[in-house]
Amino acid sequence: VHNFAGRDFVTLKGVARDDLELIFDVARGMEEIVLSRTRSDLLDDKILGLMFFQVSTRTRISFESAMQRLGGGVVGFVDPKATRAGDYYAESLDDTVRMMEHYADVLVIRHPQEGAPAEAAAATDVPVISGGDGYNEHPTQGLLDLYTIQREIGRLDGIRVGLVGNMHGRVLHSLALGLAQYQAQVDLISPPELSMSEPWLAEFERVGLNYREVPTLDEVLEDLDVIYLDEIAGPSYNVGREEAKGEQQFGPEQFMLNRKKLARAKPGLIVLNPLPRTDLLPREIDSHASARYFVQAYCGVAVRMALLALILGRAP
Ligand code: CP
Repeated sequence: VHNFAGRDFVTLKGVARDDLELIFDVARGMEEIVLSRTRSDLLDDKILGLMFFQVSTRTRISFESAMQRLGGGVVGFVDPKATRAGDYYAESLDDTVRMMEHYADVLVIRHPQEGAPAEAAAATDVPVISGGDGYNEHPTQGLLDLYTIQREIGRLDGIRVGLVGNMHGRVLHSLALGLAQYQAQVDLISPPELSMSEPWLAEFERVGLNYREVPTLDEVLEDLDVIYLDEIAGPSYNVGREEAKGEQQFGPEQFMLNRKKLARAKPGLIVLNPLPRTDLLPREIDSHASARYFVQAYCGVAVRMALLALILGRAP
């Protein structure tokens, strides 16, 4: 098992099953603090620095909540336009990180450019956690997705998971990397024009992921233990709905979920979604017994608490 203390966390590549299980063990303990709505003093001498070059609801606020539940402080920015990185000076990522390292003990960076958190990590000795980079990875989302599946189904080995959506989505890359550490079968379900890229397929081969590419959800729905809906028609991460008016807003019907389709699913199936919700996930699913996406958001706090405690060398 890795010693996480002082380490960066910018990818799930190289994160072994023992590492994942350690994080999950610590997260299970953290759930007590989240559920009791109290605070611990575990990190009361530490500061988290947020560097969000892209918008976020869940990742940013759950990291803030996680740090505050552990007694720590939070500084940083949630919009680069409010910093010198986003004005006339266009201050570089490296220079910005070299400031932030004096203001905080651990940094969380979300950035539209693939590899930016790794680049930031190379510029500082302060640990850097990725909050998602472009179309590359969202490793803490992958962690909380795995944790939610284990919590809700009771295991990660022997399950079959359907990943549905645009296979360029960073969430799907990280979750698939994590599932490769278990005896899980993974169906990559997408229209052909949004299928998994060759470099990612090569990476999945390298890590021994048991996967298949599948053209429609209908083809495998009855066999799945987890349906993980991402998005198909989502516009660029940085474009608001008004600006994106010309873009396609709805995914093809065969990738959308509804209660009629769920009637064919295995008992015990769970439906996950990283949120924000897209058209693949109509509201009628919310009251279905399989819906677990708000549990997923809840798990995000405990998992991020565990990661902060481990990286700051204070895990109980
Ligand atoms: N799931 C997720 O990353 O949500 P946010 O973009 O709101 O952080």
